[in-house]
Amino acid sequence: MPQSANTITTVSHQPSDSSAQEARPARKVTVATLAALRARGERAVFVTAYDYPTAVFADRAGVDMLLVGDSAAMTMLGHPNTVAVTMDEMLVFARAVCRGARRPFVVGDLPFLSYQCSDREAVRNAGAFIAAGCDAVKCEGGERVARRVRAMTDAGILVMGHLGLTPQNMAQLGGWKVQGKTLAAAELVLRDAVALQRAGAFSILLEAMPAEAAAFVRERVDLLVYGIGAGPHVDGQLVIAHDVLGNFVGDVRPRFVSRYADVDDVVTNAFLSYAADVRSGRFPTPEHCYPIEPAHEAEIRAARVAGAPSACSSGSAGSAASPGSFAPPAPADAIASAGAAGHGASPAPTVGALQ
Ligand code: KIV
Repeated sequence: MPQSANTITTVSHQPSDSSAQEARPARKVTVATLAALRARGERAVFVTAYDYPTAVFADRAGVDMLLVGDSAAMTMLGHPNTVAVTMDEMLVFARAVCRGARRPFVVGDLPFLSYQCSDREAVRNAGAFIAAGCDAVKCEGGERVARRVRAMTDAGILVMGHLGLTPQNMAQLGGWKVQGKTLAAAELVLRDAVALQRAGAFSILLEAMPAEAAAFVRERVDLLVYGIGAGPHVDGQLVIAHDVLGNFVGDVRPRFVSRYADVDDVVTNAFLSYAADVRSGRFPTPEHCYPIEPAHEAEIRAARVAGAPSACSSGSAGSAASPGSFAPPAPADAIASAGAAGHGASPAPTVGALQ
């Protein structure tokens, strides 16, 4: 379709290299897909996502599951722990992720006090995540939340439990502490897992547990068991996207995190280059400006140079040189010749920008 100078070009979120899409079938991941992965001994790939672009990128990469985690409190909102994020905030993140994730199975994380107080609140808030497009919800705790889990599953909602290190009751745990380090401690986690299974949960997530303890639990329940910092003997691995991408701004550095990118450096350096280009006048160049008919351009330039009043101004108020009017930062000649100056690190405008 031909584009005019003022057309906004839109693109779908398909990668330009279609082989990236072919890497995994595009069919939506369901709980049956996850069970089939486990039956085949294949590990599910599970990452957190809180926004549309991350969901799109994870989808393109063939990630199986996305958690809209309450870790958003720390990764996205700059809080020191997870308890500060609200249901309303979580739903904004969840809707954005669900818009971007076509194939992955999306789990919405019930924030602190969104399910603890009553069955009714638990069902309402879990239902809000499902209405936002999530496939399941996650809540923290075992026996003590089993009743809520039963209420949610009875309402037809898929529930994932979260055991081991449960950040919403960090104060009770005494900090970011590994859980299940003895057989007795692993048995306590197992007891909670069994309570969740009886309450109808389809899955549990084990956080910060020794690999043997996680395997001990997994082998004794009939649930899909995922892990974050719980070793390899589980049905899939969860990581916090910001930890692997290198854009977590905070003090927590878990042992189990492996970094796959340095987004912090990439973004900081991009802003440094942009700032240098703006300050030196290398940005914007003519290629970033909207073209108009040469005759119109010449007429406007002549008016600027002459300081002539425009048709819609009275007296001197519309003059390019008059006090209070918009004054361009560079003279007309400089604008005309700016294209020759070249351009620092700024890329060409991307598809989807006003062309
Ligand atoms: O919110 C989250 O990202 C989580 C993980 C830390 C397990 O619950």
